Order: sequence, then structure tokens, then C-alpha cells
Amino acid sequence: MMNNKFLTILVFIIIGISLAVMLSNNRKNNMQYTLSIIKPDATARNLTADINKFFTDKSLTVVAQKELLLSEEQAQNFYIEHKNRPFYGGLVEYMTSGPVVVQVLKGEDAITKNREIMGATNPKNAAEGTIRKEFAESLERNSVHGSDSEESAKREISFFFDYDEVTKK
Ligand code: CDP
Ligand code: MG
Repeated sequence: MMNNKFLTILVFIIIGISLAVMLSNNRKNNMQYTLSIIKPDATARNLTADINKFFTDKSLTVVAQKELLLSEEQAQNFYIEHKNRPFYGGLVEYMTSGPVVVQVLKGEDAITKNREIMGATNPKNAAEGTIRKEFAESLERNSVHGSDSEESAKREISFFFDYDEVTKK
């Protein structure tokens, strides 16, 4: 009798500890997906492999990638949040001026990590060792795009890919 009670308590303690370990692992392991675009200034200089090395060096994996030419409508819709900004027309023209490589990156804190790897929007302000410091030609021709939040990552990945398919990997 005594033994049975002891065993039951032991089983509950083991289940409790396992659950606590699983929960804390989940919290530490903030696996995310983010959308990256290698922009026309960079594809024109064949920089895709060099840029991908920045991601893999920081433990981001490219889980999906395709090269395409954006239509005017696609570029307008992709950057719809900027539609009232003075640079919107030029940005759409630039983003449709040559091929882009759209890609999904996966990794721990991938969204923030990718923004750090990219560097500031204006290459003049970009930190040493960032993609934009290394490759960007100007504020507009700044080589890469990266989602800036979980919400935009979901929207932007779905813009180019089957979200459920790429996030299964
Ligand atoms: O790309 P990021 O999120 O860093 O910057 P953004 O403020 O969301 O702007 C989107 C893109 O518009 C930039 O990456 C630039 O290519 C372009 N841009 C521009 O041409 N002139 C500006 N004053 C601001 C942005
Ligand atoms: Mg942005």
C-alpha cells in the first residue's frame, strides 16, 4: 500500500520535472522564420552566395529561395505600408528594375537576428560587418530586405511562398 502511494507521488514528480524542462526549453528556443529579399542592385553584382554566407555564418538557414522579377503590382503591394512616403514610386521602380531573390530564413530569433545582420537602412549608418555596410550602394539600393516583426514576417512569407509548406521544414 505504502509502496503504491510512493510510486504515484514519484510518477507525478517525474512528470512535473519533465514538463518544466520542456517549457523552459521552448522559451529558450525561439525558432522563427523571416522573409529576406536580395534586391536588384545585389543580384546585378551576383552577390547571392556572398550574402547567404552572412546568414549561415550567424546560424540562419535558407529553407526556401527563388529568383523572380517582380511585377509593378507585386512591388506596390509588397511595400504598401510605404504608399504615402515620397520614396514609394522610386522604390517600386527600383524593385522591378531587375531580378530579386526571395528567401525564407529559419533560426533562433531569426527576425531580429536578420535585421542585425543586414544593418541600418541607410548604409552610411550601417555597422561594420553588416551586409548593407559591405554591399549597399545607397539608401535606396541597399541590397537586402528583411521582415521587421512577427506579423510582417508572416505576411511577407505568405506573399511569395506557401507558408505552411516552408515552415514545416
Ligand atoms: O528596408 P528597411 O526596413 O530597413 O527600411 P524601410 O524604412 O522599411 O524602407 C523600405 C526600403 O525603402 C528601404 O530598404 C530602401 O530601399 C527604401 N527607402 C528609400 O529609398 N528612401 C528612404 N528614405 C527610406 C527607404
Ligand atoms: Mg521595412
